[in-house]
Parts: sequence; C-alpha cells; structure tokens
Amino acid sequence: MHERKNTHKVGLIGTGMVGASFAYALMQRGVADELVLIDADRARAEGEMMDLNHGLSFVRQMRIIAGDYADLADADVIVISAGIGQRPGQTRLELLQTNAGIFRQIVPQITAVNSDGIVVVATNPVDILTYISAEAVGLGHTRVLGSGTVLDTARLRYLLGQHYGVNSRSVHAYIVGEHGDSELPLWSLANIGGVPLSDFVGANGQGYDQAALDRIFDQTRNAAYEIIQRKKATYYAIGLGLLSIVEAILRDQHTVMTVSSPLAGEYGVNDISISMPTIVGRSGVEEVLTLPLSEAELAAFQASAQTLKERLSHL
Ligand SMILES: NC(=O)c1ccc[n+]([C@@H]2O[C@H](COP(=O)([O-])OP(=O)(O)OC[C@H]3O[C@@H](n4cnc5c(N)ncnc54)[C@H](O)[C@@H]3O)[C@@H](O)[C@H]2O)c1
Repeated sequence: MHERKNTHKVGLIGTGMVGASFAYALMQRGVADELVLIDADRARAEGEMMDLNHGLSFVRQMRIIAGDYADLADADVIVISAGIGQRPGQTRLELLQTNAGIFRQIVPQITAVNSDGIVVVATNPVDILTYISAEAVGLGHTRVLGSGTVLDTARLRYLLGQHYGVNSRSVHAYIVGEHGDSELPLWSLANIGGVPLSDFVGANGQGYDQAALDRIFDQTRNAAYEIIQRKKATYYAIGLGLLSIVEAILRDQHTVMTVSSPLAGEYGVNDISISMPTIVGRSGVEEVLTLPLSEAELAAFQASAQTLKERLSHL
C-alpha cells in the first residue's frame, strides 16, 4: 500500500462512454486531486481532458491530464473501461475474445509502472476480465476487483423502491453472481428498513407478491438489453457505480458492495471472480461477506460461477 499521501490520484484507461461518464461524476464528487486519462485513441482522451477541464471552474479543483502509462506510477486507483461493448442482442460473454486481447495489452503496462494501486475493472465480461487481471497482476487477488453486480444491485433497488413507494436507498437487496444472464437476486435476505420483503407493506398498499418480484428481477437482468436497444450503450449509472467503488477505496470507507472478486473457497467457489456482498476499502477487497443463503440461492450462485468458469476455460 502507498504511504498515506495527502492527494488522491486516479487513472482511467478507456475514455469512451463509460469512462467519460465516470470521469464526469468523479470531478463533481471532488474526491480525487488528479485524474489521468488514457485511451488507445489518444485524440479521444485529449478531447475528454479538454471538455472536463473546461468545467473545473464550477467544481472543486483537480488536475486532469491525457497521459501515458508512466503517469500511472503513483495512482491510487486505476479504472479500466477500455474495450468493445454489447451490440443490440449481444450477450456480455460474447465480448470475451476481443476484450481479453485488449486486457493482455493493458494489464502488463500497468504492473510495469505501478505495484500497489487498486485496479477496478468495468469492461465486460467483467467477472472474467477481473479474474484474468488478478492472475496477470499476481500480487494478491485483493488488488483487483470488478464492478460486478454493483449496477444490477442498484437497478434492483431502484425498481423495488418504485414498486413499494420508498427511497431506493432504504431498500437492502442484492443481485449476486455473474454480471450477466446467470445472475440472481437474494430474495431471502432482501428487506426494506429491516422488514423482510415477505412482511413489508408499502404506504402505497403494495405487499408481498412473488410474481411482481420475479418481474422486477427480469427487468433488472434485462435492463442493459433494453437500454442498448434504445440508446446503443449504458453509461451514466455505471459511471456513478464506479465512482462509489473508487470513493470507497480512496476514503477507506469499508463499504459493502456487490463487487466482483476472485473467490478462494467462499460459498464453495474458487478460481473465478464473481460478485457477492464485499467490504471495500483502501486495500481493495477487505472481506467477502458470509451470508446465510437459502439452499436454492447457493445452488444458483454456484451454477453462475460454473457458467463463468466454462467460458474462462474456452479462452
Ligand atoms: N460493468 C458494467 O456494469 C458495465 C456497464 C456498461 C458498460 N460496460 C462495458 O464497458 C466497456 C466500455 O463501454 P463503452 O460504452 O465506454 O465503450 P466505448 O466504445 O464508448 O469506449 C471504449 C473505449 O476503449 C478504448 N480502447 C479500446 N482498446 C483500448 C486499449 N487497448 N487501450 C486503451 N483504450 C482502448 C476505445 O478507444 C474507446 O474509447 C464495454 O465492455 C461495456 O460492455 C460495463
């Protein structure tokens, strides 16, 4: 780990829609002092640098540059959102070959200059790319984590909040597993203000209704397909999700988030990166929580891990 510095430096590799949305959110939150933008398309990184810098007189001051890997030497956190995204109808797993090739170029260039920054992966398929990065980094799996189902969990909380007429921040419910088609909701642990969903009745009269919950999960799982069909890509919500992960690291917040991290036997799963509620702080992954899952949830989680392992084995 870095000695505690007074400044926070963030690197961003891939300044496309996701990267730029994250950068825009980061500068508004005021948690970083420096941001280095890197993209294979240098002009794109420079254009984002100029546009973001022109907004600096409206927010807390920071330094934003378009740079090279050498500029990442003292970065505390490096976010990777480089690579291709889904086209309409395409699954995240179909992006694997191309994006794994891109990661094989990027990760060694990070490790060549930076030995202790935390690497946050957003590129899809995020679980497999997180695992590949962790293996390539080779400095302990805690240094690398993926955005995993952080976005899916936010989508679920939003939809449940709408359904019951409560603030989504008062909804405690998680999507775990693959960030993709085999993900699952942990209904057995979901609650609103401590009241299990099976007992909760909203002020709008909405009570327990499993069919409605199933529909909400379907909407959550298919959200990216729906958005991509309409506007070609999703980026604002993931930009904010990445911001909350980076903030948890920079501020050492010990925040519980459904990030993806390589498991070593937790829930009977190993040798793959996958999402479960996890404590995130200055050292990256601090602890994957041990939750009392139902038998069906545990089986679905293990099946999701198996799906990822099969894809990884074909790489
Ligand atoms: N984790 C999530 O929840 C989540 C959500 C939305 C999108 N995504 C994923 O994020 C990724 C990026 O999506 P986007 O919409 O920003 O795509 P985009 O096409 O807008 O941007 C990708 C950027 O990566 C750059 N790039 C490609 N190869 C590179 C390399 N070798 N080095 C540096 N930069 C390189 C490109 O030049 C481009 O600027 C996709 O894989 C997408 O599926 C993840």
